[in-house]
Amino acid sequence: MRISILTLFPEMFTGFLSSSIIKRAIEKKLVQFDIVNIRDFSKLNNQQVDDTPYGGGPGMVMMVEPVVEAIRSVKTEKSHIIFLTPSGKTFKESKAKEYARREHLILICGHYEGIDERILYYIDEEVSIGDYVLTGGELPSMVVADAVVRLIDGVIRKESIEEESFNEKGLDYPVFTKPPVFEGHEVPDVLISGNHKLIAAWREKSALEKTEKNRPDLLK
Ligand SMILES: C[S@@+](CC[C@H](N)C(=O)[O-])C[C@H]1O[C@@H](n2cnc3c(N)ncnc32)[C@H](O)[C@@H]1O
Repeated sequence: MRISILTLFPEMFTGFLSSSIIKRAIEKKLVQFDIVNIRDFSKLNNQQVDDTPYGGGPGMVMMVEPVVEAIRSVKTEKSHIIFLTPSGKTFKESKAKEYARREHLILICGHYEGIDERILYYIDEEVSIGDYVLTGGELPSMVVADAVVRLIDGVIRKESIEEESFNEKGLDYPVFTKPPVFEGHEVPDVLISGNHKLIAAWREKSALEKTEKNRPDLLK
């Protein structure tokens, strides 16, 4: 899979691409990233990419032309083009699964007051990562890319993915590791019992209790 990220701040991706599971997925050639600087596609002086909003109002708006040229520089007939915006549909695990089956994602990061609305003629989907406003689309694009890459075959163990939150059963079960007692808080006895049937039953029950407490909406 290939993921192209269009941004005004390429330097923000250095840590993301050079650490942990994402780094290993790149090294194993399971995913390829291109970080494209939208500023390189400005035709104006000083590589200007934003201007004041028509109709007035605060802040600056990213101009559509450099973004469209940046899209054209990476687009193929296999590309699926996503604009990260708080006005988009909320990103979910089910979307991550759908994206993980695609060959090429193009993720567009807005900044300032966002991108000229005519960008909608050049994209496939508007996606939000939640009901809050961030300063730019860089973190949202990393959120989407991270959720997708870990689902690509060979990136992490299949069993880890199957047992996780947002499968058909709701949230994941609570997990514990050593030490068996920390400041008086004990690991549930059943997990140390070695009885796999009892452990599975405890996990199922605990996952259900957690889902009822924290995310009852998932059980509807
Ligand atoms: C300050 S925001 C623009 C907010 C816009 N004026 C609004 O109120 O919807 C700048 C950029 O950050 C990104 N962004 C901010 N919050 C986001 C979210 N919750 N999901 C996805 N992208 C987001 C988008 O790319 C957006 O164009």
